Amino acid sequence: MENTNKKLLEVNNLKTYFYQEDGIVKAVDDISFHIDKGETIGIVGESGCGKSITSLSVLRLVPRNKGKIAGGTIKYYIDGENPIDITALDPRGTEVRKIRGKEIAMIFQEPMTSLHPVFTVGNQIIEVVRLQLGMTKKEARERAIEMLRLVGIASPEQRVDNYPHELSGGMRQRVMIAMALSCDPNLLIADEPTTALDVTIEAQILDLMQDLQNRIGMAIMFITHDLQVIGEMSDRVNVMYAGKIVETGTIDDIYHNSKHPYTQGLLKSIPQIGEKKRLVPIKGTVPNTVDLPSSCYFAPRCEFAMEICHKKEPPDFKVGSEQIAKCWLHKSREEVS
Ligand SMILES: Nc1ncnc2c1ncn2[C@@H]1O[C@H](COP(=O)(O)OP(=O)(O)OP(=O)(O)O)[C@@H](O)[C@H]1O
Ligand SMILES: [Mg+2]
Repeated sequence: MENTNKKLLEVNNLKTYFYQEDGIVKAVDDISFHIDKGETIGIVGESGCGKSITSLSVLRLVPRNKGKIAGGTIKYYIDGENPIDITALDPRGTEVRKIRGKEIAMIFQEPMTSLHPVFTVGNQIIEVVRLQLGMTKKEARERAIEMLRLVGIASPEQRVDNYPHELSGGMRQRVMIAMALSCDPNLLIADEPTTALDVTIEAQILDLMQDLQNRIGMAIMFITHDLQVIGEMSDRVNVMYAGKIVETGTIDDIYHNSKHPYTQGLLKSIPQIGEKKRLVPIKGTVPNTVDLPSSCYFAPRCEFAMEICHKKEPPDFKVGSEQIAKCWLHKSREEVS
């Protein structure tokens, strides 16, 4: 029997669509995955494949003008047993606000869009912890300083009164992490937390996140377009392409035994350390997801594409004990629903 006690988040058949005049953009198109307590899962894929919209869906922060969760469930196991279906909550209601920050926190892709320029970094953290943890102003200020220290910001007593523009990019990213972790979340969603940073600072930030995870025991959903970074961070990986999860597996499965040509293409494009190997980009581009025909969306770029791939969407095939690939090359394997 399935043990639900270790489950933290369970996403089933999630669809997040944008309804535009020229058609429907299926930004996230029928994806399923889960995260256990304390584990790190990676979501990887090229630009535009739906990584950010997946994470914004979990927090019900999808831009509301045209975007909408069109189907599926997002179950959050608040106490290990009775899950809350986040898709059923009012995105502006109090229930979802109780989850945001305290249960599930997010580091956004663009630090400057989520740090408010006219407030000091301290005030921004203070506001979050006062709201979520009900602290007094004085307690909250102490908490803010403690969090800034924890993420490795020197002289936090002074930095707490700085405005975002007075900090470097790396420091702003640390402030974002401090803010996200200030309420001890059970799940941290990190959307390309290091993409804007140079490699030395990137390494420091990744170390810091792992260190904090070990201390606090939170789970992480780590989003990146970089397979190398995901290998350092994650236990399991979901590879996304054009709104779908095309391959799932342990980091070992994905690195050494990938079964999907798209994943294999991503792996080939990683430069080897110490080796002056040329990057081999995958030919072609991610399709525009407006009104795509029923087929494998990767087929036009795939060197192994067969006739069926252009005609029919592949189901998920079980290609290993924990590995699934959405690819007709594995049609002799068991289908998973
Ligand atoms: N507000 C919006 N209105 C219409 N389409 C949108 C909107 N936001 C995102 N999309 C579309 O949804 C799809 C997925 O976008 P998303 O931002 O999730 O990609 P991503 O994987 O995070 O890419 P990146 O690596 O560049 O951050 C894209 O095709 C994008 O054009
Ligand atoms: Mg994104």
